[in-house]
Amino acid sequence: MKTIVVLTGAGISAESGISTFRDDNGLWRQYRFEEVASPEAWARDPQLVMDFYNMRRKQLLEVSPNPAHYALSELEKKFRVRIITQNVDDLHERAGSTEILHLHGEIRKARSTVDEDLVYDIKGWELKLGDLCEKGSQLRPHVVWFGEPVPHIMKATGIIRSAEIIIVIGTSLKVYPAAGLLQYAPSSAVKYLIDPKAMPEYHVRNLHLIREKASVGVPDLVRELSSEIAK
Ligand code: OAD
Repeated sequence: MKTIVVLTGAGISAESGISTFRDDNGLWRQYRFEEVASPEAWARDPQLVMDFYNMRRKQLLEVSPNPAHYALSELEKKFRVRIITQNVDDLHERAGSTEILHLHGEIRKARSTVDEDLVYDIKGWELKLGDLCEKGSQLRPHVVWFGEPVPHIMKATGIIRSAEIIIVIGTSLKVYPAAGLLQYAPSSAVKYLIDPKAMPEYHVRNLHLIREKASVGVPDLVRELSSEIAK
């Protein structure tokens, strides 16, 4: 089976009703990330940080995967599909995809503030000050904040190197190190960028721009790739 690597960003979940970050109504137009998504914010005002992630977790529980998420799970019938997502939502999982690496963490999980290997599922939407890990320390959202290392970046680099086809969906490619992953892509791999505002990435060879919303562009491309393999 050929390997397709998919790199997703907030745009793939936009049509499920989850805000992106940098579009006109994006989260970083409403909040300063330094105040809600950084270690300094957590030290200064942990309740504000908790509220921010609780609000987003609550919203996530109210929405569903959209046709783009489902099309990627369908693609597994014909290809090995390895998803690297910058999203902290679980919409790829809920759509049925099986190989997913969360570069920026998972909002429905909590982790210990003294031992990063202690990770727990959050029941419902709320994580509270006073919720403790088994070592007695405060739990925090299991997400990567600005200024923190991205633990899985080396693994993601290895995954990108394994690609025969790459599909990038709904990301502004502004946040490093995720934005730099494409430079590790084999030059022979065919690459597709699906985003209504897709721009040429001049350093990336073999790149096809698909200026569509994910719910249209992804199912169309999945159909095309699946029918090619059937020929
Ligand atoms: P951005 O908000 O930076 O970019 C979203 C992209 O999605 C833009 O290029 C939009 O054009 C595109 N888009 C919007 N609607 C779409 C649709 N219906 N279909 C397809 N594309 C659409 O979000 P990311 O690139 O994911 O990190 O942001 C990267 C990281 O920045 C996030 O993971 C988050 C944020 O700060 C952390 O919190 C660590």
